[in-house]
Amino acid sequence: MSLSLDKNDIKQKVSKASTKADLEAIRLEFLGKKGFLTQEMKLLSSLSIEEKKAKGQELNQVKIFIENEIAMKKIIIDKSEIDQKLKKEIIDVSLPSRDYKSGKIHPISHSIEKIINIFAAMGFSVVDGPDVETDFNNFSALNIPMHHPAREMQDTFYIESENKEDLVLRTHTSPVQVRVMLKAKPPIRIIVPGRTYRSDSDATHTPMFHQVEGLFIDTSTTMAHLKGCLVDFIKEFFEINNLEYRFRPSYFPFTEPSAEMDVAYSKINNVINVGKGKDWLEILGCGMVNPRVLENCGIDSTKYQGFAFGMGIERLSMLKYGITDMRNFFETDFRWLEHYGFNALDLNSFSGI
Ligand code: PHE
Repeated sequence: MSLSLDKNDIKQKVSKASTKADLEAIRLEFLGKKGFLTQEMKLLSSLSIEEKKAKGQELNQVKIFIENEIAMKKIIIDKSEIDQKLKKEIIDVSLPSRDYKSGKIHPISHSIEKIINIFAAMGFSVVDGPDVETDFNNFSALNIPMHHPAREMQDTFYIESENKEDLVLRTHTSPVQVRVMLKAKPPIRIIVPGRTYRSDSDATHTPMFHQVEGLFIDTSTTMAHLKGCLVDFIKEFFEINNLEYRFRPSYFPFTEPSAEMDVAYSKINNVINVGKGKDWLEILGCGMVNPRVLENCGIDSTKYQGFAFGMGIERLSMLKYGITDMRNFFETDFRWLEHYGFNALDLNSFSGI
């Protein structure tokens, strides 16, 4: 189509443009350095003053007209580009997730979720602490002074530190008790899932393992509360109502009295049956918080008592899911995970772990 300065022709031309590049081509055709209108403008100089004025005005109007037409069309093209993009990128939220069955949740993560769910229902909240701890939080504040034989109970990884503070890889989640008590005022009702470290390795010990700590402090807490809480928990965790358990007297410097809780099981042809049997597996340590620990953490022990517990998540998971070698948890063998792992969304999640 030959170029003309007729407004209808221009309008038609612009209306045919479907991309911003088309628009730019039209703009250059008319208004570019060598554009049609620009050339016409140049011719003005050869006209008389009168003609120049009339033609000049006319050309200016056409210029404004072209610019407006192009600007309006650009808005339309922009909008349709966005519409197309939105159409292409549409997400149908009603569709089931395509790959939720590929990949598995590790049994340790699954157990942590389950434990959190059970204690959350009892009103406990979840607290976190660091893996690298001060010697004070891990030992001294928990009534395990330097050179105390109880330190030998836990083979500790010591960390070289630049400042004077002695650092360790926490040997248990109990230092988070200290962190919380130093900050919060009772009543306190927390659980602390996390990694713990001891220099130990065989079929039932790995150098890194997981614990869940529990701490409950109030004005009239007793051993009966401790037992009730843990018995309810253990039945719920194993989903066995008449599960056999026992509390054995024990010793921890930070609880007094102290106990360990065992769960009965039997192993026939290498298959573990939980809840009944002549064998016992220790799954947690517990006790009434030693008043010395309360005082170390600035809590008035004449007013408050509490109980605490710490459970091994690997132990609980081994029993529940019939896993016989603890090292399997951390060998990242996909065949193993395919077998023992869980599908995502099998359990509702409070913590996002
Ligand atoms: N921290 C102890 C351990 O790891 C367990 C425990 C926690 C015992 C709280 C009593 C109270 O062995």
